[in-house]
Amino acid sequence: EKEVIALKEIMKAKKRTDEFFPINWYKEKLESDPVYFHEETNTWNVFKYKHVKEVLSNYKFFSSEGERTTISVGAKSKEGQTPDKVQLTSVDPPAHRKSRSLLSAAFTPRSLKEWEPRIRQIVRNLLDNIEENSENDIVQVLTGPLPAVVMADLFGLSGTDQMLFKKWVDILFQPFDKNKQEDIEAQKQKAAKEYYEYLYPYVAERRFNLSDDIISDLIRAEVDDEKFTDDEIVRITMMILGAGIETTSHMLANTFYALLYDDQSIYKELRSNIELVPNTVEEMLRYRFHMSRRDRTVKQDNDLLGVPLKKGDVVIAWMSAANVDEEVFENAFSLDIHRSNNKKHLTFGSGAHFCLGAPLARLEGQIALEEFVQRFSKIEPVEGFELEENLTDSATGQSLTHLPLKVYK
Ligand code: HEM
Repeated sequence: EKEVIALKEIMKAKKRTDEFFPINWYKEKLESDPVYFHEETNTWNVFKYKHVKEVLSNYKFFSSEGERTTISVGAKSKEGQTPDKVQLTSVDPPAHRKSRSLLSAAFTPRSLKEWEPRIRQIVRNLLDNIEENSENDIVQVLTGPLPAVVMADLFGLSGTDQMLFKKWVDILFQPFDKNKQEDIEAQKQKAAKEYYEYLYPYVAERRFNLSDDIISDLIRAEVDDEKFTDDEIVRITMMILGAGIETTSHMLANTFYALLYDDQSIYKELRSNIELVPNTVEEMLRYRFHMSRRDRTVKQDNDLLGVPLKKGDVVIAWMSAANVDEEVFENAFSLDIHRSNNKKHLTFGSGAHFCLGAPLARLEGQIALEEFVQRFSKIEPVEGFELEENLTDSATGQSLTHLPLKVYK
């Protein structure tokens, strides 16, 4: 069992707001301390684009197989664990290749094309709940439910069950908190068991009734004569939920936050030119994701980062800091939806482990924005909104719990 590294201690954020958007800390580190050793957690921390990319992708020197991690995983019970056959984030190539190929079967470009109209319909249905010329909480009506409902739909589950997903995910992937860890672990094990018992019969039944959904794709998947069992598929879907729901919700909510509080002219611009949406989504991923970071463990002594690293040392790559590195992004600290190279951001990682769900996350971001902008003429912040009171600990640092806005027809 891996030891969890408390990232909070490294950032020394005093308020939720500081952790939500640690832009000043990133700036300070990039300028004066780009390769930083943090004593209390015994970790190296890198911020520059070139270093972050090196650490994420050079698996001969920086391994995903360490004893310590920054990610707090699902439940530690049997139901909550990812099967060995698809260990992905915790293994290096070449072992990684086979798991990745097996799982990729469910995320092919063909699937994405088929999913587009389904996702668009889900977005439209959610937008129907918005009250025009009135105050709405975008987290409640759109950014919170969308990724969970999409995932349930892509798994092939019916409408009534879809919100159950969100509930399980919120419990299963709560962030690590050393003061409440026992309690959290008990809740997680209960949720994992409920989820498992809910989905298992469904998977078993699907085997005799294949369709165009992720569970059917996982049943069909085969690499080097290996296929998945029903038990494995249930636990794989849990892993997919862990990787894909909270992250995508975070991206969506922060996008609306930026439209309201960073630059209100963007909304008008998008309305007059909807083709700007894909590049806007990239810019939001670069500038407003805030807390993308991953750890690796040094596999062989090296000085690739300009300091003597020893085998076993832990290095944390702060991707969100790399995304504001002036050496790569001009005027890196401003939000510019016309930026031509923003697709170079490292929010989805780099190299062998590059996010398998990136095309899906991008598609959800694009469709949500397109549909919203085309339907409503104007949005405005609601007076008296206090960011500090509307944040909560999450796997992505701090996430918005509410984001009220006024929506005009
Ligand atoms: C891996 C971020 C959405 C599934 C990763 C990694 C990052 C990341 C940084 C690399 C991990 C590493 O290098 O160790 C994000 C962000 C998302 C998002 C920012 C949304 C904005 C999704 C979605 C899914 C997904 C929607 C699936 C439905 C995965 C999987 C991996 C992964 C399976 C493991 C890949 C591997 O280790 O080979 N993600 N992700 N992600 N992501 Fe995502």
